[in-house]
Amino acid sequence: MFHSDNLSVNTKNHLMIGSHDTVDLAREYGTPLYVLDEDLIRKNCREYKEAIETYFDGNGLVLFASKALCTMHTARITAEEGLGADVVSGGELYTLYKAGFPMEKVFFHGNNKTPDEIELAITYGVGHMVVDNRFELDLINEIAGAKGIVQNVLFRIKPGIDAHTHDFVKTGQIDSKFGFALENGEATQIHRYASTLTNIRIDGVHCHIGSQIFDVDPFCEAAKVMINFIADLYESLSLKIKILNLGGGFGIKYVAEDDPLPPTDYIKKVAETVKDIAKQRNINLPFLVFEPGRSIVAAAGITLYTVGCIKKIENIRTYVSVDGGMGDNPRYILYGSKYSAVVANNASAELVAPITIAGKCCESGDIIQENIMMPEIKVGDTLAVLSTGAYNYSMASNYNRIPRPPIVAVRGSEKKLIVKRETYDDLIKNDIL
Ligand code: LLP
Repeated sequence: MFHSDNLSVNTKNHLMIGSHDTVDLAREYGTPLYVLDEDLIRKNCREYKEAIETYFDGNGLVLFASKALCTMHTARITAEEGLGADVVSGGELYTLYKAGFPMEKVFFHGNNKTPDEIELAITYGVGHMVVDNRFELDLINEIAGAKGIVQNVLFRIKPGIDAHTHDFVKTGQIDSKFGFALENGEATQIHRYASTLTNIRIDGVHCHIGSQIFDVDPFCEAAKVMINFIADLYESLSLKIKILNLGGGFGIKYVAEDDPLPPTDYIKKVAETVKDIAKQRNINLPFLVFEPGRSIVAAAGITLYTVGCIKKIENIRTYVSVDGGMGDNPRYILYGSKYSAVVANNASAELVAPITIAGKCCESGDIIQENIMMPEIKVGDTLAVLSTGAYNYSMASNYNRIPRPPIVAVRGSEKKLIVKRETYDDLIKNDIL
């Protein structure tokens, strides 16, 4: 009935996540509440790892893109599952460091890393910096030099691939703030320059074409372009590139119409392309890195809300307002993202009419979903919005000074609060009177 296998309905007609009744969770922890199915996250991590084993002889590494969901607990469980991590800020890096994440398996991204962030990354012993521009490269060389180390780097390349996704989450084309373009030669020039720097070791190349992509062809195209570039670098500069990091971006199912491939299929097809082109160009197979974020955590998360008021505007629409909104899920207001929702305390009821789920912020655009078919809803019902595990908590804000919800992780019959609910005192703790 639901598009994620970990959701079901019990005899009380309540929505279950794993073996937990969501109505009980809402009662125990209050709403809004993020619930995370740790078993599903671990299963997804294993699926990715096994795909690399099966289709690339284990010659690769899967990184969890922490931007999708960055907490100390998720850092710990992805580390336990043997994944590396992609971080994009000092804050993400610090979270992982404090959680005991192995720093040598961290790749540090970002188009404008500050000197402080670079210093921190090098001090922590981050395995690879993914260099976005020449200013940063010089800074890394200088800071690594001052510490007497040689820093491993990858260069972020724009492969010129147009992925069919929302404009805001497309990144592989030349008109992008990220990385070095191939078309105008800057990608080659930066490698030539970097090979003259004493505290830089050129280890690999990276690209990321976008997010929530369903079609495997753009990933294969990107792989092709990148392998050809690796071969060209060897021919023109005698550079041996060892790592090919193809980023993340694999799509997931938010609504019935979404039809993503299982992650294994993406990896299989991309690995085949990499092998083919490497053979054609007569180069060694690179160490293959992927950076999935959404496809590891999105379906594992749901958000529980309580319905506070219902406003039926005859011949226009019905607003059902919940106790959260754009503060805990800004994806509709940002991207018009689609979600599915369930009345958790009446989970298999028949769908009767379209409603608009609105948040409690002082902003008309504060909507979680517009005109979705739902069963009869009453004030006090628990509403579950599905597949909110990625880019919800990590993009949450305190707009209108609304405290961010807690996260509870469930695993088998166990449950654990992994992020506390913010308090009003948390909201004012940095204010100075
Ligand atoms: N690697 C790099 C370099 C990235 O920029 C991203 C996402 C990923 C990996 C992970 O992509 P994923 O597998 O999660 O699609 N806030 C937007 C998504 C922005 C994605 C940014 N970069 C959203 O809510 O849809």
